[in-house]
Amino acid sequence: MARGFQTIIYEKRDTIAYVTLNRPQALNVYNIQMRDDLYQVLKAIKDDSEVRVAIFKGAGEKAFCAGADVSEFLTAPSPAIARKARWQRDVWGLFLSIRQPLIAAVHGYVLGSGIEIALCCDLRIAADDSCFGLPEAGLGIIPAAGGTQTLPRAIGRGRALEMVLANRRMTSAEALRIGLINRVVPRNHLLPTAEEWARKIASFHPLTVQQAKEAVVRGLDLPLAEGLNLEKRLARQVAKQAVKQGKRKKRWKLSLRIF
Ligand code: COA
Repeated sequence: MARGFQTIIYEKRDTIAYVTLNRPQALNVYNIQMRDDLYQVLKAIKDDSEVRVAIFKGAGEKAFCAGADVSEFLTAPSPAIARKARWQRDVWGLFLSIRQPLIAAVHGYVLGSGIEIALCCDLRIAADDSCFGLPEAGLGIIPAAGGTQTLPRAIGRGRALEMVLANRRMTSAEALRIGLINRVVPRNHLLPTAEEWARKIASFHPLTVQQAKEAVVRGLDLPLAEGLNLEKRLARQVAKQAVKQGKRKKRWKLSLRIF
């Protein structure tokens, strides 16, 4: 099944959703229309229990996404006001609230909101031709699609500040070394690798996968003791659900006693 938006192609094959940023003539840059389309797509994923995992990718050969559409900056009184227009919908809050695992499969230019979209995903695979950077400061704005918060959580404060303050560009190899991405693959292996990971994840019970994601992601923002309590609660829910479904009953009952 495929649904067309002006700037995004949304497809569903079995339990995997595919989100393709689709403005290849402009390096898939993020504009107000893409904000509106992405919001609809993210809601569709969030509300669709058939979707077990989603893959985000960019159309065309040159870019996953080269950041915000600067031509909209020219039609607004200032880049900051253009940016404000894009805030009118909380796309990033919605992105980060999705329970299903999300995989970013990036290539070419991954700049500004391109990195930020990838950081809203849980796993990042990059083609070996990727180039990462945050040009915002040079344009008189700061990353505001979650990047100032998600980036240091992924790569640490010093490295994040190097990218945010000095627009330090990075190759895929460097991005892998510092933990910005999970894997580098040749360009022609990008989608097959993402699909292989997606199929693996989709083969597990969705509740197990979603609770595991929640434990890791929410736990990161909690003190350790609270994180451990969260883990215990979620682990019990998963085990109870498994017992309810009668799957491997004895083994699960045993594991319930352990928690
Ligand atoms: N906003 C709007 N249009 C953009 C764009 C952006 N951020 N980045 C690229 N484009 C458009 C170009 O205007 C060009 O359109 P045209 O063919 O109608 O002239 C097309 O995308 C291809 O870009 P081009 O610059 O010709 O490709 P390149 O390979 O020579 O350079 C980049 C690629 C990414 C280095 C260069 O496009 C660039 O620096 N873009 C700006 C990145 C940026 O500052 N993003 C904003 C972050 S907030």
